Amino acid sequence: MTDIINIYKKYQAQTFPSPSLLHVKSASGSYIKDYDNKEYLDFVAGVSACSLGHCNEQVTTAVQDQINKYSHVMVYGEYIQDPQYKLAKLLADNLPDSLSTTYFTNSGAEAIEGAIKLSKRINKRSEIIFCKNSYHGSTHGALSIMGNEEYKSNYRPLLPNCNQIIYNNIESLKKITDKTSAVVVETIQGASGFIEASQDFLNQLKKICSVNDVLIIFDEIQTCFGRTGKLFGFENTDLIPDILCIAKGMGGGFPIGAFISSWDNMNKLTHNPKLGHITTFGGHPIGCVASHATLDYILNNNIIKDINEKEMLFRELLVHTKIRSISGKGLMLSLDLYDNLETNKIVENCMKDGLLLFYFLFNDSSIRITPPLTITLDEIQKGCEILLKNLD
Ligand SMILES: Cc1ncc(COP(=O)(O)O)c(C=O)c1O
Repeated sequence: MTDIINIYKKYQAQTFPSPSLLHVKSASGSYIKDYDNKEYLDFVAGVSACSLGHCNEQVTTAVQDQINKYSHVMVYGEYIQDPQYKLAKLLADNLPDSLSTTYFTNSGAEAIEGAIKLSKRINKRSEIIFCKNSYHGSTHGALSIMGNEEYKSNYRPLLPNCNQIIYNNIESLKKITDKTSAVVVETIQGASGFIEASQDFLNQLKKICSVNDVLIIFDEIQTCFGRTGKLFGFENTDLIPDILCIAKGMGGGFPIGAFISSWDNMNKLTHNPKLGHITTFGGHPIGCVASHATLDYILNNNIIKDINEKEMLFRELLVHTKIRSISGKGLMLSLDLYDNLETNKIVENCMKDGLLLFYFLFNDSSIRITPPLTITLDEIQKGCEILLKNLD
């Protein structure tokens, strides 16, 4: 084991000073197993990516069937590939008419990059407005609209003309003008605990954006496919975005992302010049069949119907003097503690007891709870018992 850890630490680039060193042997349903055959109940789900848990049979079968037909055959968009157009159609069937046309990417950050470029094509303006504490990915464009200076300062200069407003602060919406191309907003902010956009804020955002012809881009990369108790987070609001970005949970554990808008908007990428956005592997057939199977499974197995009940059970069980509040919605919950010194210890001790939890990027007094959407009530009960024991 020490040998493996040394190889892992020396040859695989690290991003965290003290990684958990969980060595994964296999994963199934809501559990991950290590090489000592110890099972861990997974309350993280690959940071909201494994919507249906691990190795969901419908997803795995779809992937295996596709591997036997073909894998990568051509850069994005050139050939007609069943996995791609079928997924695009299924998405359109479950979205409003104004979000009919999908461009597939490899990841969430790449979906954001595409959405920013598209907004510039649509209204020929350059200013992009983003919210304090937002996270939209780690590539340069996405980083330029990240609402946290600590993570940006080493990489400046970034994209010019990106300006920050305060999430849920109506006064700060005054920064949006007729020079603004788009405002990028998460329906639930995901990097500093889970904070919902208020309906008041969204109503005002909609008003100011329509007066100034500014596009609204929703980053639903973490909320998508059911996590909030609706298929898409914007269904919890009265607002339909002009461009929708999705990724993470849409792949059921496989890499895929997308930005979605009207046919007219998306068609702008075909001319002046042609190939307005290019990706080699975006919309990879394996990712597309995995995503189609995930969405189909969610729609046909009452997954969304049960999310509220699961959320309520978490809220009922997780009562403790060290818990200040539980924020978030559905199975996107943030356990906000009184003491930020305790979060690391609690996450580490829960792992020793067989429960996986995780942190937030910009908030060290909260603990992330984002289990697979398929988690059972018994598993919630079991995980919360471990958590409460370690809070004591
Ligand atoms: C809200 C949000 N946007 C964008 C991203 C970036 O997605 P990816 O890591 O697939 O690039 C993430 C990833 O955590 C996210 O949570």
